[in-house]
Parts: sequence; C-alpha cells; structure tokens
Amino acid sequence: MSTVLTIGADGDLAQRFAEVSGGHAVALGVDALADGGLLGHLVMPDAPHLLVLGPEVDLDEAFAIAGQVEVVAPSTSVVVVAFADPDLWMEAMRAGVRDVLSPHATEADVAAVLERATALAQARRAAMAPVSPASVQASAPAPAPVRRVVVVASPKGGVGKTTVATNLAVGLATAEPGSTVIVDLDVQFGDVASALALVPQHTLPDTVHGAASNDPLVLKTFLTPHPTGLHVLAGSDSPAAGDAVTAADVAQLLDTLSREFRYVVVDTAPGLSDLTLTALERATDLVLMGSMDVPGVRGLRKELDVLTELELVPGGRHLVLNFAGSSGGLAMADIEETVGAPLDLVLPRHDAALVATNTGVPLLQKGGKDPVTRGLQSLVERLAPRPATGRGRLPRRRVGAR
Ligand SMILES: Nc1ncnc2c1ncn2[C@@H]1O[C@H](COP(=O)(O)OP(=O)(O)O)[C@@H](O)[C@H]1O
Ligand SMILES: [Mg+2]
Repeated sequence: MSTVLTIGADGDLAQRFAEVSGGHAVALGVDALADGGLLGHLVMPDAPHLLVLGPEVDLDEAFAIAGQVEVVAPSTSVVVVAFADPDLWMEAMRAGVRDVLSPHATEADVAAVLERATALAQARRAAMAPVSPASVQASAPAPAPVRRVVVVASPKGGVGKTTVATNLAVGLATAEPGSTVIVDLDVQFGDVASALALVPQHTLPDTVHGAASNDPLVLKTFLTPHPTGLHVLAGSDSPAAGDAVTAADVAQLLDTLSREFRYVVVDTAPGLSDLTLTALERATDLVLMGSMDVPGVRGLRKELDVLTELELVPGGRHLVLNFAGSSGGLAMADIEETVGAPLDLVLPRHDAALVATNTGVPLLQKGGKDPVTRGLQSLVERLAPRPATGRGRLPRRRVGAR
C-alpha cells in the first residue's frame, strides 16, 4: 500500500517523500488529474494517508481537489506545495488543505508532514470503524495508537495557558488512564505543579541533566503522579536552574516522552522562546490563546502570523479566546476578522477558574457545570474524539458566554 501519492511534484520532492515513507510513495504527473482517475486511487480501502499536490498543479485546482477529497476519502490529508503567506494559508485551510509545504522543504519538513498525515489518517480510520464484536475479534493487528504532542501557547502571560493546559491534561488522563504527561516548559516561572497542588520531588532541570535524560525508565521515575492518573514534569523551582535548560534538552525530552505517552501536553512561557519553538517543531496540535481585549486579540493574530511564516503551525490548530464576558465593545465578528480565522473555543470569565487555580483542583477534576468547565471538556473532546459517536467531525466552536 502506498502511504503517499504525489502529483505534479518535481523529482527531488517526490524522492524525499519516497525516502521518508520507506518507499511507500507513488509519484504521478499532472495528467493523472485529467482523466478523472485520481478519485479512483482515493476511494480504495487503502487510500494513501497523504496526497501531495505539487507546484505543477494549479492552486485553484488543488483547492478544489482538497474539497472533493475531504468528502470521498476523509482519512487522506491533502498537502499543497507553495510559498505560503497568511492569506494563502487561510484560503488553503478553508479549502480543506491540511498543510502547505514550501517548495524548499527539507527532509525534516517532509517527514513532519507525513507524520501528521499518518496520525490523522489513523485517528479518522479509528473513528470511522464500526464497533462490533466481529471487529474486536478480527485477527488484524490494532493500528498503532495516535500520539499527540499538544503545545499550549500565547503571546502574553496571564491569559489562561496553565489553566487550559492542566485541565486538558487532566481531562485526557481521566479519559484514558496512564495516557498523559504534562510538561511545564515555563522553566522560570512555571506553576503547573501549583495548579495541580503537587510538591514535586524532581523538576525539569534535574530531568534533562541527570540519568533520566537518556533513559526512559529513569525518566518515568522523575515524573510526579497526580491523583487523576496524570504524570507531571514540573517546571524548575528557581529561574537560574531553568535557564540551564536548552532547546536540545527539550527536543530530546519531548521525543522520549512522546514515545512513552499517547498525549504529551506542554505548557509554555509567554511568547516564542527557543524552548517553545522547539516544542512546536514536535507538536501535532497547537492551542493558541488570547484574552478578550484589543491587545490580546492583536497579539493572537501576530503570533499566528509569525508561526505560519515559520511553518510551525501543526495540523491540529485550536484558537482559544479566554476571559469573554461583558465584551468591552468588542464584537465576536470583529475579533474573528482581526484574528483572521474563526475561533475554536471561547471561554467566559468565571470565578470557578480562579477558585480552581487557588485550591489546586482543576475544573475537570472537580467536574462542575459552569461554562468554563464545559468549554474545557469540549477542548478535550476535540483532541480525543470519542470513537463511538463516529460523526467524523470535530466539534465546532463552543461558546460559553456571548
Ligand atoms: N476563564 C477564566 N475566568 C476567570 N479566571 C481565569 C480564567 N482563566 C484563567 N483565570 C485565572 O487567571 C489567572 C491566570 O491564568 P493562568 O492559567 O495562570 O495564565 P497563564 O498561564 O497564561 O499565565 C489564574 O489566576 C487563573 O485562575
Ligand atoms: Mg502559566
């Protein structure tokens, strides 16, 4: 079975896909689009995970194809090859394109695109598979679990990153025991441990500099257990110790953790530090947060533009606006226009969130009925869709208060 189908990609790019897919790539010329044979390749039960529409395919045609593929082969991700600017990126996403790959993509870029497509294909196939006793007894091996590295970031502090990251992690760990680790990458002022009422014995700097750095078994003993089954790697207890953590340390740490855990949730410091960018290089999902005020909304747009420019927006992108309430004159339509994309989740300002931080009991651990808890639960479901519902669509924006 071919995992990758490239159409109209030049020899170098097609070659790179052949290499990263271990030879499971088929390269066709643009004439494959002329005779309507393309859809035939895609509706087969083993449709490719990834359809790459190379520079020789006209962009409008590529976008139209992406729309068709979404319908006939939802487990196939479409990638177009083009120099992306924010407008093109937006148009591509709206058309159903999963990634825009630069014509100068390196082998690492190509591998990352394929990895995301494979993860998505597996998730979609699992979600669409009928659950029946026969399928449980089937002798075919179960597909490898989908691994996700979820980075929670924002341009500014105090917008709710730690609140969202800790709740997301607790929600995922509760849904699937033993599946989730949270890493506090706010190495200088991280407060994940405090938000979870934990007193960790080990912190991030001990982990990346000692025996745990290259031994997954030792690494696991450095994690702090939370009563919900979540594993926690706390930030440093002193800014100086935090300074000694390098991007290379973080890269190695996240690579190891993502082999050991199905979900790695990463809380970050405000802005785009080296450590955050390193985490984003490994992310399958970005939860990008802003607050509901003019600087907050503009900051969100700027950060999204910069990350798009750097090609560091992973396939799973979740835009979250926090502290919605009396709008202070900001209309949701204006906010979305400024951000340049629809918001995926709007969380209202609510005292329950503050109480949760102060008592160290996350909202999803407590399970209240307030709108912030409900919004956070919907975010968990975006990342870990329940297969039984089988509708194959991520929940649209969940609005707590408007
Ligand atoms: N929706 C909300 N309503 C009320 N308070 C909130 C909300 N979200 C977060 N907070 C509070 O705002 C403060 C900052 O949140 P935090 O998650 O630490 O932000 P960050 O990690 O981005 O600095 C915390 O005291 C938290 O309880
Ligand atoms: Mg924080």
